Amino acid sequence: MLLEDKVCVITGAASLRSIGYATAELFAEHGAKVVVVDLQMDGPVLAGIQSAIESKLRRPVSVHGFRCDISKAEDCDEMVRRVVELHGAIDCLVNSAGIVKSQSLLDISPQDLDLMFAVNLKGAFYLCQSVLKVFVERRSGNIVNVSSLAAQRGGGLVGGAHYAASKGGVLSLTRSIAREFGALGIRANAICPAMIETPMLDGLSPERLQDIVDAIPLKRTGTTRELAGACLFLASELSGFVTGATIDVNGGTHIH
Ligand SMILES: NC(=O)c1ccc[n+]([C@@H]2O[C@H](COP(=O)([O-])OP(=O)(O)OC[C@H]3O[C@@H](n4cnc5c(N)ncnc54)[C@H](O)[C@@H]3O)[C@@H](O)[C@H]2O)c1
Repeated sequence: MLLEDKVCVITGAASLRSIGYATAELFAEHGAKVVVVDLQMDGPVLAGIQSAIESKLRRPVSVHGFRCDISKAEDCDEMVRRVVELHGAIDCLVNSAGIVKSQSLLDISPQDLDLMFAVNLKGAFYLCQSVLKVFVERRSGNIVNVSSLAAQRGGGLVGGAHYAASKGGVLSLTRSIAREFGALGIRANAICPAMIETPMLDGLSPERLQDIVDAIPLKRTGTTRELAGACLFLASELSGFVTGATIDVNGGTHIH
């Protein structure tokens, strides 16, 4: 058990096929008190998540859920307030909520750009601010931000330039937090996934998907469980001396 009784808030977990859900499942397996957060969270969605985790683990687990629009600072503050009211603390935030859109740069309207930045970058920023207020008081805490390989290579697989830029901002934000709050024992790290089998890949044609897979050294897509494993490493004390890092989970795509 790597996260026994740790209160872990995981955003972007509404779909059972998402990285957020797989992370919630693996964290629950390791004893965490899991809080799943999403724009799409409601009673039936939460019940589905709880029953999926419990049938996988064959035991009751602590799972709570809150609806939150991460692009709204007041929603993030309110969600964090309610989690602290419920559990008395927060030990870890995994921010996996996000949106993607494939568009060429000159087709991106101001509205497209605003929405992408509002969710992926400002949403991550607001969430981090909200939990950091709790972490600073406790002088401990751990943030894992899910960025993207798009931030490193300049988009071009699934997301456009606005997606890549928003995820690049998440990497800079993560490093800034690691630097500013390290002295308080607070860690922040980022993960850059690519080609993980989730609803985000649904828009790709089979031919396009095959072309991309052919260029991956492991010659396959990744599973959400494999991405969750990287989150578990970063959320646990196994990575106690790791902060400000960017972990690639991409089948070797960026070997150089
Ligand atoms: N799947 C991949 O290959 C891949 C690759 C690179 C990066 N990522 C990143 O991984 C993260 C998880 O994506 P996924 O692949 O699990 O897809 P997903 O679509 O299943 O998960 C994203 C979740 O974010 C939620 N969300 C969207 N806007 C929100 C908002 N304003 N407030 C709260 N929640 C909101 C959605 O409802 C959805 O449940 C994303 O940040 C994505 O950019 C995924």
